[in-house]
Amino acid sequence: MIFKADILPTLAKKISHTDTAASSHWNHFHKFFSIDERLEIKNAVGFGDGRKPYSSITKILHYLLQRRYRKMVPNNSFFQKTYKNAKANSLRNSSRFSLDTLRQVLTLTYLKANGLIKNNNISLVIGDGFASMGSILLQSGVAGKVIMINLTKTLFVDVYYAMTLPELEKNNSMVLVDNENDLKMAVYDDNVKMIFVEAVNCNILNASEANLVFNIVSMQEMDMKYIRIYFDQMRKIAKKKPVHFYCCNRESKMLPDKTLVEFSSYPWKDQDKHYFDELCPWHQDYYRLIPKFYVPYDGPIIHRFTKLST
Ligand SMILES: C[S@@+](CC[C@H](N)C(=O)[O-])C[C@H]1O[C@@H](n2cnc3c(N)ncnc32)[C@H](O)[C@@H]1O
Repeated sequence: MIFKADILPTLAKKISHTDTAASSHWNHFHKFFSIDERLEIKNAVGFGDGRKPYSSITKILHYLLQRRYRKMVPNNSFFQKTYKNAKANSLRNSSRFSLDTLRQVLTLTYLKANGLIKNNNISLVIGDGFASMGSILLQSGVAGKVIMINLTKTLFVDVYYAMTLPELEKNNSMVLVDNENDLKMAVYDDNVKMIFVEAVNCNILNASEANLVFNIVSMQEMDMKYIRIYFDQMRKIAKKKPVHFYCCNRESKMLPDKTLVEFSSYPWKDQDKHYFDELCPWHQDYYRLIPKFYVPYDGPIIHRFTKLST
């Protein structure tokens, strides 16, 4: 098990390796990823809608253009607190409060407001970005512990951003694991709050006991082989305890190698219980600072909240 101070140096040694868990989409974008000798991120193209902080003028424009998305969930105390935390996290990392980050807040608020999630879960985030979801899961109390799995290069970025969280100040609060035994130990250790796993080790996840899983616009860019492994791992846990899965992905997407990834072809089962299954309101378009401002994505994005059968 590798503790906080040693995680980035450990992952940095693998940055130049080809990631066998990466689809053609991620093999393409990872070509541009680079870090320097101080382990600072130099380039992360394709990892989301950018991280450079907004200038004071554009900040106001972004705030106004994000208004239509903020209105999509109730403006309750959970939303206000989580929104504030997510903004503070961006500020602490000198990064922008992007639409991608806002969407994580909207997702949790929507699930909470509909009474679908309680607190103190063991959460698994498959393919986070800048640790935005993992961070607010911990800060809101929805998760007492978060397991973060990602491709090695993107995991480096998740770790880099998570390291500044006040909740993860101690060296034993975050760990990197690569086998089932260490994962089990980390889950049972109350000091450990965030556990990182490289996607190449995804077949250990059944040892995580995660009961609340998130996948947001990430399976849509994965090879089917890995989508199947993630479902298998979740269903193994579901044999021991109820597992709820929030899945938000494009109805279908063509990857650069012409692989078609379709939401309906994920290994769902007839016995799975869907609490909702609809177009995700905050994921149908994005905005730009130039007219016509709001631009639809190339296809619909569905979100589904499911109690997985075994
Ligand atoms: C478009 S980004 C989405 C980031 C974030 N979830 C969001 O809502 O903005 C897709 C994410 O999926 C991750 N990813 C791609 N293939 C993966 C795999 N096989 N296992 C885990 N994560 C993967 C990428 O590294 C990236 O972090």
